[in-house]
Amino acid sequence: MNTSSTAYINGKFLPLSEVTISPLDRGFIFGDGVYEAIPVYAGLAFRLDSHLQRLENSLIAIRLDNPCSNEQWRDIVNQLIEKNQSGDQSLYIQVTRGVAERDHAFPATKSATVFAMSKPLPAYQQEPIKAITRKDIRWQWCHIKSTALLGNLLLRQEAIDAGCQESILLRDGILTEGAASNVFIVKNNKIFTPEKNNNILPGITRDITIELAKENNIDITETKINEQELLNADEIWVTSATKEIAPVIELNGKPINGGETGPICQTLQNLFNQFKQTLRDHS
Ligand code: PDD
Repeated sequence: MNTSSTAYINGKFLPLSEVTISPLDRGFIFGDGVYEAIPVYAGLAFRLDSHLQRLENSLIAIRLDNPCSNEQWRDIVNQLIEKNQSGDQSLYIQVTRGVAERDHAFPATKSATVFAMSKPLPAYQQEPIKAITRKDIRWQWCHIKSTALLGNLLLRQEAIDAGCQESILLRDGILTEGAASNVFIVKNNKIFTPEKNNNILPGITRDITIELAKENNIDITETKINEQELLNADEIWVTSATKEIAPVIELNGKPINGGETGPICQTLQNLFNQFKQTLRDHS
């Protein structure tokens, strides 16, 4: 862990090792907060406006006023990127309902805690992964990017314990998403992904994947996918800010596409890489 990197806390930039938060912060006590994880390519926060819009949506959903204007967020994000040597990074921002005496009811006075940090982008982007299916045991408001991630953590750890990297979740027999990713399948050269609703996080990488498929005339449908359709898929991949587009080459111990990255996944990875390259060329 690089604790000498620069972080941001309530108006100040400090070394991460010097950031302290009260144990009474409702983020610590209750998981009463929301967050964003934003990829940074060549010093540019990727799709920052979409991340700020999703943050705003999460804040509205948990009835917490946005403590910063978009202008202020952009300033915090850009300063943080610069102070951490630009380049490729994984930027994290979090807002909690702040410090108050422990009480389930919201505190009468508003004082959100705003925290942000940055670390190098992980090296495993786009790497093939193995996954297991699990029952989606999480709450019913998964569209909110809440810091209360215990359900996701337990499900991710079950995958790790099984020698895999992700759990793919089913609620009442219907595919929702991964423990920390969105899911796509391919059947007969057509792509399918679960539609946006309260059962999934509306992933920014998911949006980009859909846009790239549509721009390149690849058939893609947002729809309900049942367990059988998932298990019989020709290709499966997951998307997230940290994994980008990562093929699932084994599900529940059974190889998918012969244990290789599928052709449609490969095409989308190439399109995604070209898209990133145009950003680098213009940075
Ligand atoms: N998580 N679904 C869940 C439950 C997630 O936690 C994530 C990402 C996604 C993908 O969203 P996006 O494409 O915007 O990253 C879907 C991030 C990476 C995290 O928690 O660190």
